[in-house]
Amino acid sequence: MKIKINPVKKIVAELNVPGDKSISHRALMIGALAKGRTSIKGLCLESNDCSYTAKAFRDMEINIVKEGDLTIVHGKGLHGLTKPRGPLYVGNSGTTMRILAGILAGQDFESTLTGDTGISARPMKRVVEPLLMMGVRISAEGDGEYPPLKIAGGKVKPISYKTPIASAQIKSAILFAGLYPKGTTKVIEPVRSRDHTERMLKYFGAEVKILGKSVSVRGPGELKARAIEIPGDISSASFFMVAATLLKGSEIKIRNVSINPTRAGILKVLSRMGANVRIVNKRRLALEPAADMIVKYSRTRGITITKDMVPSVIDELPVIFVLAALSKGRTIVEGARELRVKETDRIRSMQEGLKAMGVDFRVEGDNVVIEPADSLKGAMLKSFGDHRTCMALAVAALAAKGDSEIDGKESVSKSFPSFFRTLFSLT
Ligand code: S3P
Repeated sequence: MKIKINPVKKIVAELNVPGDKSISHRALMIGALAKGRTSIKGLCLESNDCSYTAKAFRDMEINIVKEGDLTIVHGKGLHGLTKPRGPLYVGNSGTTMRILAGILAGQDFESTLTGDTGISARPMKRVVEPLLMMGVRISAEGDGEYPPLKIAGGKVKPISYKTPIASAQIKSAILFAGLYPKGTTKVIEPVRSRDHTERMLKYFGAEVKILGKSVSVRGPGELKARAIEIPGDISSASFFMVAATLLKGSEIKIRNVSINPTRAGILKVLSRMGANVRIVNKRRLALEPAADMIVKYSRTRGITITKDMVPSVIDELPVIFVLAALSKGRTIVEGARELRVKETDRIRSMQEGLKAMGVDFRVEGDNVVIEPADSLKGAMLKSFGDHRTCMALAVAALAAKGDSEIDGKESVSKSFPSFFRTLFSLT
């Protein structure tokens, strides 16, 4: 379905964004594997992706219920999952599929993970390979690369694994599998990826050690149910942060957003670009740091984002490209290749959208080079069915001259179903 976006002058508002999607997946997974009643405040259950994670555990007879603003997971321990009756369907959720593969590796039953056509083209060898090294009988289509994944779990051995890519999904799959065998399982990353899994496993009682770029877990683990609170998702907040930065006279306050340093690279990027962002009311929820953010309009400048920074802004790059398109001077993002294997090829989707709006967006090897335009032209834009492309282009359209139309507006329900309602309420 298409959505029409008219340019606006400014946005002034106070708002909340949905709970962090990455943390929400982990809360459901770890809650299911812990013994007892885990209560979760702020879960992003309305997002399609997280509801597929909940559904997968319900299919393995884990009771997950709403109690007021809490979600309660009645966990049954590491070995308490029941063999599902059929394949576990994860929709379009790559996080669910990859991390669940590590959990299913430890179970004494056979299982199959399937998803929609989009996910069926996304790379899975990155988790299949280390799980095979752990002795798990796991197979996938296309020489181990594509879903469905078939897993005959139960026999896992610890490994020490150097990941070729900084990916929290790979790291998490290995750490979850490492909870089952006796011994230490270690993951060493080229750059640290988001650390929500290790934080939460530790909080639930697992023996987790973090040393520089390596994380290890000692099995067999035992997880005990806890109460947790999930802050707002900085990836969802970033669309409004960029919109407020771009539109003269804007001022917004976004309450209770995660500022986990392995996730919040956008704050560093915005600050280096000269944006006016104030972090106030910092607090530490049980697991994750959070704060309120005040963002005002500011004229920004282009910067170089080096490869080592990319993992901490991987999901925010589409909207950073939009800001770069209207900043002063060139922006270069080095080593952005992982963007090609997200819900869509986000280098291509953003290049196509921003080019249609008049931006010189070049790809040089793995680098993206953006020469800004004086202004963006309203255009017919394509989301490619990808939530973050859709939301990033919506921000570009707000700041453009002339009306735009974006297709695939329903894609936003993957992470932020109320995105357009929230956006239009601010203008
Ligand atoms: C996620 C990790 C990232 C990110 C994705 C969510 C997670 O992917 O892009 O949206 O929750 O672990 P990679 O781990 O593949 O980089």
